[in-house]
Amino acid sequence: MAAAENHAGPESPVSEVESEPPYIHVLSAFLAMEPPDYVISLARECIGDSITGSVQRVFWENCVKAAANGNTSYAKKFLKKLISEIELENGEVLDELYEEYALYMSSSKDDETAKESIRVCKVVSFLFPEGLYEHPSCPRSRKLVIPLKCSLNMLEGDTGCSVWPSSLFLSEFVLSFPDFFAGKTCFEVGSGVGLVGICLAHVKASKVILTDGDLLTLTNMKLNLEVNHLNYDDDLAQQSGKAQSTVKCVHLPWETASDAELQEYNPDIILGADVIYDPSCLPHLVRVLATLLQKRPSHSAERDNSPEKCSENEYANAAGEQEHAPVAYIASVIRNADTFNVFLKLLDQTELSITDITEKLKPLEFLPYMRSYDRSSVQLFSISSR
Ligand SMILES: C[S@@+](CC[C@H](N)C(=O)[O-])C[C@H]1O[C@@H](n2cnc3c(N)ncnc32)[C@H](O)[C@@H]1O
Repeated sequence: MAAAENHAGPESPVSEVESEPPYIHVLSAFLAMEPPDYVISLARECIGDSITGSVQRVFWENCVKAAANGNTSYAKKFLKKLISEIELENGEVLDELYEEYALYMSSSKDDETAKESIRVCKVVSFLFPEGLYEHPSCPRSRKLVIPLKCSLNMLEGDTGCSVWPSSLFLSEFVLSFPDFFAGKTCFEVGSGVGLVGICLAHVKASKVILTDGDLLTLTNMKLNLEVNHLNYDDDLAQQSGKAQSTVKCVHLPWETASDAELQEYNPDIILGADVIYDPSCLPHLVRVLATLLQKRPSHSAERDNSPEKCSENEYANAAGEQEHAPVAYIASVIRNADTFNVFLKLLDQTELSITDITEKLKPLEFLPYMRSYDRSSVQLFSISSR
């Protein structure tokens, strides 16, 4: 109670308290659809034990009203939990909260929405740690807020319509080391909702090519690029000479992607998050990686793509040209050791080397409010051609 008063007395305008870091965590957790009991416990932890009138108002102004545009099912669950906790502590519930909850109760709108579509809009807010080196490409940005249309059904769009933990980790990696990616051509396999691509565009990769083998996933990904005000182009052949369009969306099933098509993309960096899970797809995925990772002559002094092994990756040849060696960054939760071992074996047979860089290049923590995201479950690997 006292702590809450310290941050915002009953008369404090919401806009003032909103900018307080504890509220940022609470609001970010709500918008990311973290479990309601966790969001409320976070509020208690950050703001004070009691859910005072001013705290309720913050929830009302910033969360519940925003949820009215969609996510009604989550808002209803959240309100139910919030009201019952306030009542339990004999607090006074704001009229607006009661009224909104009564509206949800009297209408079956949220149930219909839930049946018709299990798509929701999750907002992933990357909160930049204090003192983070400011990259010239993203000056003064203290947070990056990315709304994402996604599905609560993990199997929709062949798993590509959900946000997986590895894409959160890979996004944190991109934001932690913007210099690795700025000015580079970046190509992602199995891009899903497009989160990593949006972060790559944010750090000013010169070209972002997002790919997926599932058409429903690709449609959802394009929607997310639109929602995040990024232009996309799905016809790579037409891009040369055209006004710059940063993000390409390409339907690219690993099984049918031709070597010639892959070579045309000519990426500096290849990325992938949570793509190592289906043993039957792995030979195709590894072939795609091997083709994209082929070393090739480079006439310009290209910048290193593998910062941890700079000198090893560029080789001067007899004509004074340099060999350009792309690198892949693959983030993965190893759920099945056998499947991962199949992947390692295939890499070895294809003359690709893999290094676990999880500790060496540990990303900063941008999602401290997200309890559902277990960072420690994700490993990050760099893969390059031998
Ligand atoms: C587990 S999801 C991960 C999605 C996203 N990278 C993330 O981490 O949130 C796997 C992704 O790989 C794509 N995928 C699976 N098999 C594929 C294949 N054979 N060819 C191309 N994409 C494939 C799926 O459509 C899906 O988007």
